[in-house]
Amino acid sequence: METLKNFHRTHYCGTLRPREIGQTVSVCGWVQRMRDLGGLIFIDLRDRTGILQLAFDEKTPRDMFEKAFAARSEYVLAATGVLRERSSKNPELPTGEVEVEVTELRLLAKSETPPFEILEDSGVNEMLRLKYRYLDLRRPDMQRAIALRHRIGKVARDYFDARGFYEIETPMLTKSTPEGARDYLVPSRVHPGKFYALPQSPQQYKQLLMLSGFDRYMQIVRCFRDEDLRADRQPEFTQIDLEMSFVDVDDVIEVNEGFLKRVFQEILGAEIQTPFLRMPWKEAMERFGSDKPDMRFGFELCDVTDLVKDCGFQVFAGPARSGGSVRLINVKGGASFSRKEIDSLAEFVKTYKARGLAWLKLSGGNKSSSFAKFLTPEELDRILERAGGEEGDLILVVADASNETVFSALGALRCECARRLNLLDPKEFRFLWVTEFPLLTYSEEEGRFVAEHHPFTAPMEEDLALLDTDPGKARAKAYDVVLNGTELGGGSIRIFQAELQEKMFSLLGFTKEDAKARFGHLLEAFRYGAPPHGGLAYGFDRLVMLMSGAEAIRDVIAFPKVQNASEPMTACPAPVDAKQLDELGIAVVREQE
Ligand code: AMO
Repeated sequence: METLKNFHRTHYCGTLRPREIGQTVSVCGWVQRMRDLGGLIFIDLRDRTGILQLAFDEKTPRDMFEKAFAARSEYVLAATGVLRERSSKNPELPTGEVEVEVTELRLLAKSETPPFEILEDSGVNEMLRLKYRYLDLRRPDMQRAIALRHRIGKVARDYFDARGFYEIETPMLTKSTPEGARDYLVPSRVHPGKFYALPQSPQQYKQLLMLSGFDRYMQIVRCFRDEDLRADRQPEFTQIDLEMSFVDVDDVIEVNEGFLKRVFQEILGAEIQTPFLRMPWKEAMERFGSDKPDMRFGFELCDVTDLVKDCGFQVFAGPARSGGSVRLINVKGGASFSRKEIDSLAEFVKTYKARGLAWLKLSGGNKSSSFAKFLTPEELDRILERAGGEEGDLILVVADASNETVFSALGALRCECARRLNLLDPKEFRFLWVTEFPLLTYSEEEGRFVAEHHPFTAPMEEDLALLDTDPGKARAKAYDVVLNGTELGGGSIRIFQAELQEKMFSLLGFTKEDAKARFGHLLEAFRYGAPPHGGLAYGFDRLVMLMSGAEAIRDVIAFPKVQNASEPMTACPAPVDAKQLDELGIAVVREQE
């Protein structure tokens, strides 16, 4: 095998154009393929910028020609030669008008036959791709996604730097404060029996930095949450995290709209209109059944509880009378769905705990319906009138004793219908701020209030009195930025007074001692002059996913985890040596079967 001694790359493969014809060029890369046409050999050489054709013929020195003949897919080569015009041009390739007439070829590394071909959109099984991620990452679409990720991060750093934000690192080994997701724990060798937690976010540290007077902080930071994976969730993920002092909601929103406008403009050339629409959480739930509504299409929820309360159809009347609700969406154009498709929509809502789906189709001047026969014509007319039903519509109704079930089933259903009707244009970017979230939600499971955002979020001033009378009704100074149905980021204005923070902890069911043990450092810090402050964190992976049009954040992370939180390439998590455990004072009492 040869080396690069005295060889100096002059160009990247994908950058060469007719303007360089006649120049001697030196390039390096991987063999995409070798074609042997008898006395003529072509090698497509690939690097991160693209593919370039290397040509070998009877004029090529014999030993070089033989080396070219022996080249196989994914061999690593370095080549020098003169760039010339190609006789048969390839309009598909940016370098398709030129080729290198090779005078020197070095074989730097051989390759075994890879488990899959290195091609754009190769359609290869994802587990196989992830097992050989280093090969998968050679594929042009992955190269583009990772490069895009880098550039988005760079725009973020530049934007926030220009606005006076300092990037400050916060610890990865932190104190466990179980609230929110489960922590990843790291045992301490020096303190046997004690554990660090990997940060779920730098929340407390960034607030303390405001106390320290840094005024504006940002960080592109890894966060860890031991929660179930989804297409837009990973156990370790990255945030663009920021915090600002002496600000209120409008200030945080303005800086962030500026950032999103800039990043979409610079990276995609897309003009995003600001200010974004703002919608209180309650309105988002009522109209879209979701706190992260996709605004690219309509199909808004319509409440018909009052219209069916006294009807003879128990499926509707029961929930309507027992504090639940009956709501519908009118899927414009949905009458094109077949019975089979409607049945599959009924299956779909079951995954959101809805017990069933009632439907009515207005097609060809006729009404066909699963429930019309149980209602009087007047009752039906009133429902249709409120729903704005007309020819071509499909009306889908969910009734349930739990409003949450109705919202979540219809909220998901409207997106599913839009998907099936091809209404989701990934190049249309509809931003929205959802504001005025509830401060607290009651957890039946834990028998106490839990913070909807986190325990450091400030209540709205106008709702402060509710903390003493009806805390469940208090709204928070919290905001989420939503893009096309994905929660891109979330944040809040924080509590900055020790007394209010203590009150919040007590509402969350912590005793004074508990609160002190877990958050004493924060409560103490508040005694030394805390500025009013607030901030936000974006899911960086989600931002890159939406900007690149990828379907899962796995596709924009170099080495992601899979569904069961393992990493197929290195096969982690993995057992460790008995000696390591011994040093940590840890014994494994239950192993995976
Ligand atoms: P929050 O928990 O809302 O807020 O997280 C902020 C954003 O991070 C992204 N995100 C995730 N992305 C991928 N995988 C995950 N498991 C995951 N979990 C969250 C989402 C989300 O909007 N400290 C607060 C922010 C603040 O108040 O300033 C926080 O972490 O896009």
